[in-house]
Amino acid sequence: MTLIPLNLFVAHDGASKRQHITCVYRCGNACSKPVPNRSANAYFGDIARAVSRRTLLRAGGVTVLAVGAGSVLAACAGEQAPAPGTTAAPYAAPRAGMDFASVAPNTEDAVVVADGYRHAVVISWGDPILPDAPAFDVTRQTGAAQRGQFGFNNDFAGLLPIPGRRDRFLLVTNFEYVTPEFMFPGYDAAAPTREQFDVEIAAVGMGVVEVERTADGLRPVIDALNRRITADSPMLLTGPAAGSDLVRTDADPTGRTVAGTFANCAGGVTPWGTVLSGEENFQDYFGAAEGSPPPPPVQADQMARYGVSAEPTALRWETFDPRFDLTRTPNEPNRFGYIVELNPWDPQSTPVKHSALGRLKHEGATVYVTDDGTVVAYTGDDERFDYMYKFVSSKKMRDGTGPDAMAHNMTLLDEGTLYVAALSGDVPAAQIDGSGRLPDDGAFRGSGTWIPLLRSGADGQGESLVDNFTAAQVAVFTRMAADKVGATKMDRPEDFEANPATGKVYLALTNNTKRGTAGEPAADAANPRNENKNGQVLEITDDHAGTAFTWELLLVCGDPQAADTYYGGFDKTRVSPISCPDNLAFDSHGNLWISTDGNALDSNDGLFAVALEGPQRGEVRQFLTVPLGAETCGPVVTDDLVTVCVQHPGESDEHSLDNPQSRWPEGGTGTARPSVVAVWRDGGQIGV
Ligand code: FEO
Ligand code: CA
Ligand code: CA
Ligand code: CA
Repeated sequence: MTLIPLNLFVAHDGASKRQHITCVYRCGNACSKPVPNRSANAYFGDIARAVSRRTLLRAGGVTVLAVGAGSVLAACAGEQAPAPGTTAAPYAAPRAGMDFASVAPNTEDAVVVADGYRHAVVISWGDPILPDAPAFDVTRQTGAAQRGQFGFNNDFAGLLPIPGRRDRFLLVTNFEYVTPEFMFPGYDAAAPTREQFDVEIAAVGMGVVEVERTADGLRPVIDALNRRITADSPMLLTGPAAGSDLVRTDADPTGRTVAGTFANCAGGVTPWGTVLSGEENFQDYFGAAEGSPPPPPVQADQMARYGVSAEPTALRWETFDPRFDLTRTPNEPNRFGYIVELNPWDPQSTPVKHSALGRLKHEGATVYVTDDGTVVAYTGDDERFDYMYKFVSSKKMRDGTGPDAMAHNMTLLDEGTLYVAALSGDVPAAQIDGSGRLPDDGAFRGSGTWIPLLRSGADGQGESLVDNFTAAQVAVFTRMAADKVGATKMDRPEDFEANPATGKVYLALTNNTKRGTAGEPAADAANPRNENKNGQVLEITDDHAGTAFTWELLLVCGDPQAADTYYGGFDKTRVSPISCPDNLAFDSHGNLWISTDGNALDSNDGLFAVALEGPQRGEVRQFLTVPLGAETCGPVVTDDLVTVCVQHPGESDEHSLDNPQSRWPEGGTGTARPSVVAVWRDGGQIGV
């Protein structure tokens, strides 16, 4: 086994290594703008809330002593005291699924995989997936061509076995955003062309591609199920928002038929065979020309809470289509920010936007099914100081894959209750000083409550559970409803994933460099570091269909040699450094796999496996890294194959298509192209 060298990397002064251009096109420079959550909702750093009911019960009659003693201990322990749980335990052999040599941090312009594994590109931006689509030619792009080709900046991926067809799968991906400087030769950001706009609206959305498992990975197949969904494909809006005044436009007076999806980030595959995709940074696409009259003032606070502003956008879509112009179509942004459900088994099916799951910057949604068939969908709102949500269905999942079961199951996310999370800590407040120092009892842990916001019923009926909000308002301005009920501000909630083996639920909190800065909430037990550059991973023991949970931090990410990191109590001299956790997946052995976005430790992003149980709990091993400038997304981990999406290879402020930083995957004088990569081991399984 190769243990990775340590102490090679020092964190940047800034946040992650994510480039400014990524911020411009992906999240509209959210990081350099004011935090949109101006609610007074507390983090829970005050003693009254920090000592939770659980702690009180545990402490019995000596509550005051428990708080006081904690403070004294904190004062005595000092910064460098060895924290319980971090002492090096005798090394245990890796858990099944993690027996591979960790990939060392690096800055190669290549995909680097663990020794003994092979990898190959499955499909890249521009590859034809429909029968009449042309081959990729970066100098001859058209909207029509792109509509039949694989889209740009693949993020989520699902790999769905095709029933009855050995070695065949549907690869369902989404395409988050476009970066025209890295798509079009000679791109002029001040004067984008109509043709470029046509390509861009066709390059985002989703894609369905049949793939075949071969000796060399996965091979795309042109098949009848293949499909592209773009920024103008018809979608059905369901739930309490549908048909309301908030979502009607001149082009859609019914408020039920939305054109397209974009800004799709993570997602999930449902047990009934559909794919969920989160509409995340939708605000980037709506703007107004310089000097336009302001849109109706009634929406000003609502727009601000979602970061929508009546200014020219970076892409200038508002100059090509009035639905992106806020002064002409002020309700159009209210039709984005939902969870999209796609039935990939029917190429004619209309994707559904489920407003019962609320409107936010949905990172994605993943589903857990309880023993009685109740469906629980977890979804994070990826913004600094925004919230964790879940939806609990009122109907039960129906078994089977026939049309009746599919029709029923595709309404599961329309009827039920939407909740937002309020957390409290078991850690005395005095032990949370923003440094990330481990509390005296060895872990950051606490409990929490899911607060109901919206009860949705059949045919778009809804009941608001928030004072002075209608059901439609909760569905469309969910963030503001959650502000009102006292949800807990978190460090950018990204992907959720439930462990199929234990039912525990994991959440990646990617980073939050504003935590603890002037005018912003300070650290608390679940978000324990101020100016948090490296993020953390939360482990939740949830009463899935109920409203109570307990939680513990599994990882406080960053340089393992730094005092502010915590690797589940595992010996930190034996772990791969991980930073900025983003997307989550599970292998069949019960190990958590994490892909990263914006590694703040001066290495390329990568994919990591983390042990959750036994003496190896907290052991982190890096399985692969992606090329320069790229982000690792959409991991799928099967017993004999891993796939990842390589998003935005080569993206950097100093570079462009004409002056590339990366030539991956084409090499030579070729073009950097976002791609899906497969990794496998000849004749062997992953990590065993
Ligand atoms: Fe698209 Fe939450 O990252
Ligand atoms: Ca993400
Ligand atoms: Ca992210
Ligand atoms: Ca990502």
